Amino acid sequence: MSLLDELLSKRRSIRKYKADIPPAEWIEKMIQCAAKAPSPSNSQPVRFIRIDSDKPRDSLSRAMADGHQKLLCAWEKSRSPKRLRNRINAYRRFSEFMFTAPVLFAVGTIVDFDGFSKKLFEAKLIEQDSRGDIDMDITTGLALKGFILKGEELGMGSCILTAPLVFIPNAEEILEIKEIRIKCFITTGFPDEIPPPIDKKKTAEIYRKI
Ligand SMILES: Cc1cc2nc3c(=O)[nH]c(=O)nc-3n(C[C@H](O)[C@H](O)[C@H](O)COP(=O)(O)O)c2cc1C
Repeated sequence: MSLLDELLSKRRSIRKYKADIPPAEWIEKMIQCAAKAPSPSNSQPVRFIRIDSDKPRDSLSRAMADGHQKLLCAWEKSRSPKRLRNRINAYRRFSEFMFTAPVLFAVGTIVDFDGFSKKLFEAKLIEQDSRGDIDMDITTGLALKGFILKGEELGMGSCILTAPLVFIPNAEEILEIKEIRIKCFITTGFPDEIPPPIDKKKTAEIYRKI
């Protein structure tokens, strides 16, 4: 097995971390690997914002509690099945650990990116800029992959989170970030768990020729 195969196979999302804070240089190495990702016209729009101090972490935590309550109230008034309420509570649990992780980042892309389809839309050559957000999402994913794999090589685990953004739709406002649209959070640190094995699809299940 090549080193890359090994890193890819053993990588799992890690939600429990040792208390030790990883060295700053290691985090910078992970960011450097993220920076090497492909991007539309080499625009490199992805930004990593490390959320270290108590103030923004506490503000996000309060906003998550409020968002959770609002969703439960909306559920109460709706005729939705009970399992949806269980799901809301489960996703809250799958969001909370970000506040105790040794390293927490908000990851996003710059808002003033002038992509190909945006330019065509502005010139009224197409009806909508339907590709811009998708390109930013793809680019964020590619940057995250570099970040995560470098972390794996260094012995660090990580977990991407988007559920918190359902509870906190105004995360940019809370973090006072104007120029970046937050796409996800990512936690990282030294793993303090070995997640149980899970199935991944076989090649034939995700690959076909037409
Ligand atoms: C876009 C995206 C959003 C995710 N959001 C969350 C999340 O909010 N909370 C969480 O605990 N895990 C989250 N995950 C991690 C997935 O649950 C995890 O990747 C999946 O269960 C497969 O497990 P593995 O990463 O260990 O292979 C997210 C992953 C991705 C790619």
